[in-house]
Amino acid sequence: MAADSVETRISELRKQIDHHNYLYYILDQIEVPDAEYDRLMRELQELEQQYPTLVTPESPTQRVGSTPLSEFSEVQHEQPMLSLGNVFTEQELMEFDQRLRDRLAQPGSGKSIEALEYVCEPKLDGVAVSLLYIGGKLVRGATRGDGSRGEDITQNVRTISTIPLQLHGDGYPELLEVRGELFISKGTFESINEDALKQNQKTFVNPRNAASGSLRQLDPKITAKRNLEIYIYAAGWVEGGELADTHHERLKQLNQWGLRTNPEIKKVQGAAECQVYYEQIGAKRDDLPYEIDGVVYKLNSIKLQEQVGFISRAPRWATAHKFPAQEELTTLLDVEFQVGRTGAITPVARLEPVFVGGVTISNATLHNMDEIKRLDLHIGDRVIVRRAGDVIPKVVQVVTDRRPANTTEIKMPNHCPVCQSEVLKDEQGIIFRCNAGLYCAAQRKESIKHFASRKAMDIQGLGDKIVEQLCALGLLESIADLYQLKSEQLIGLDGFGEKSANKLIAAIEASKQTTLPKFIYGLGIREVGETTAKQLANQFGTLEAIQNSDQESLEQTPEIGPIVAAHINHFFHDSHNRTVIEALLSAGIVWPSIEVSAVTQGVFSGLVFVVTGKLEQMSREDAKQKIESLGGKVSGSVSAKTDYLLAGEKAGSKLAKAQTLGVKILDEQQFIELADSR
Ligand code: IVH
Repeated sequence: MAADSVETRISELRKQIDHHNYLYYILDQIEVPDAEYDRLMRELQELEQQYPTLVTPESPTQRVGSTPLSEFSEVQHEQPMLSLGNVFTEQELMEFDQRLRDRLAQPGSGKSIEALEYVCEPKLDGVAVSLLYIGGKLVRGATRGDGSRGEDITQNVRTISTIPLQLHGDGYPELLEVRGELFISKGTFESINEDALKQNQKTFVNPRNAASGSLRQLDPKITAKRNLEIYIYAAGWVEGGELADTHHERLKQLNQWGLRTNPEIKKVQGAAECQVYYEQIGAKRDDLPYEIDGVVYKLNSIKLQEQVGFISRAPRWATAHKFPAQEELTTLLDVEFQVGRTGAITPVARLEPVFVGGVTISNATLHNMDEIKRLDLHIGDRVIVRRAGDVIPKVVQVVTDRRPANTTEIKMPNHCPVCQSEVLKDEQGIIFRCNAGLYCAAQRKESIKHFASRKAMDIQGLGDKIVEQLCALGLLESIADLYQLKSEQLIGLDGFGEKSANKLIAAIEASKQTTLPKFIYGLGIREVGETTAKQLANQFGTLEAIQNSDQESLEQTPEIGPIVAAHINHFFHDSHNRTVIEALLSAGIVWPSIEVSAVTQGVFSGLVFVVTGKLEQMSREDAKQKIESLGGKVSGSVSAKTDYLLAGEKAGSKLAKAQTLGVKILDEQQFIELADSR
């Protein structure tokens, strides 16, 4: 290729890549498949390799620089990066709005002004950054620092794919500085921590720390891997051009120049509509893919913003309306050990009650002893607890520099706290177990709760509290005792009258009509979840055949390996378990018989499927049922044993894994055709 035509091609490729980036990051659209985008990038990379003089810093191939820094240099913000005042209640919001209206009213007119126009924005919980564009080219990225001076993180922000190296379109000022929040999505946060755990490295406490830690890496290659994202929320220093005269219009302009703004941003009239926005975003909060800690209200008119000005280091024209905190400081009073259904002993933190994530909590999970070691947790420690969304509260950090003198070490007891049997470590040395099985009252109680649960025998109205009462009174020793209960025994218990007692007895009676997979699942055999229970039922057809199976025949069942097979074998050879099963059957539990031959001869017979992503014409559950009804097996994870991956929209890691393993991939239409064709 002649040199000038190479130059033309390079510029054409950069234009096309910019166009696709704009569609993808700003308009949330895709015009070409990923493969085509990759081809454009590869072609550009190859041409730039051949003609290195044509490489420019803005080229989309130049995101990751080669050399790590030894330290960050200092940056002076030409316009200070401000903070925001807070309101916590509707009342305080009304007062904020009233103050603005008073200030803006014409002096001496005696009239107050009408509703003010505000822009409402989610308040992202990430890291504030400033990006400086000169002539449309990204020349500097900086942290907020103390508001006047920050750190130069240009190398790192250049690696972030949602930040354009070159502004899109035209009409932007010669010098444009913008501010925004860098963040890590909830999903990326989870996977960063999973990887860290696998490599025995420290995990991040929350997505904000993960974002900040990823940004403050001297080696930009590390930042590049962390999948940071940005939403721009304001312009700062501007020269050589004018921006629109409302905040809302300005955000639109920034967006047109390829700077990503939050799609939840909304223009409203008056404080009452701000409150509605706060409530709407609050209701959506758990479903948003990123963490927010409140919303921000900003006066829309730039003229009015200038009129009211600033107070100390915050604008008068904006405020943050905060959600209840999701992290709080409290004291670890004690650690208790709970015995689960399978005997696993888990430490549970007893905390000084604290209001966090909208509720008062006094307990938090500690998972296992490794977690306690990792946190370096002692009884008496000051700890940070976190309750995000409806997840179980967690102790995320010990405030070691506030450790009181008299803290005590946490030790796993040698004996089961409930039945006093010896506590044993499992093979990996992480989980401690009471091996007394159903002789242990705690395991009996948990096994009854499990047996009654929805996915098992589905005994409606038999909640955990009632099981606990019945166990405490000695009315339930095993799951079989459920079918001996009489309504007279229930009447008078906490919350039971004659009517509710009869209702529960009727529900227990109704549960006798079940299916073999539900019954097997309900028995609570270690590592036998719903899917394995189904597989066992399909493979063997009858309970008797499963009971009489041996290790070898169990291992021939799809996805049952030696460990699970040993658990099943052990369970059915235990004489206590056999007695309980006999009692259940003689109480009248029945299920429709399974025709093994019909199942195994289905068109998907012998094939293992994994289903992932969002399907259009059916739910994932429908797809699973279809596969099973045609004799196929459904597995939760992709492995070399997988025959097909049914991948819907937004399929993630499973799709990637299937591709690397060379597993056949079906889209929904192909799946339907395959199911119908055979
Ligand atoms: S505006 C002049 N808008 O909150 C106003 N800030 O407490 C400056 N933040 O450090 C901030 N989302 O990092 C603004 N939509 C948003 C925001 C936002 C998050 C952060 C920002 C700032 C802090 C202020």
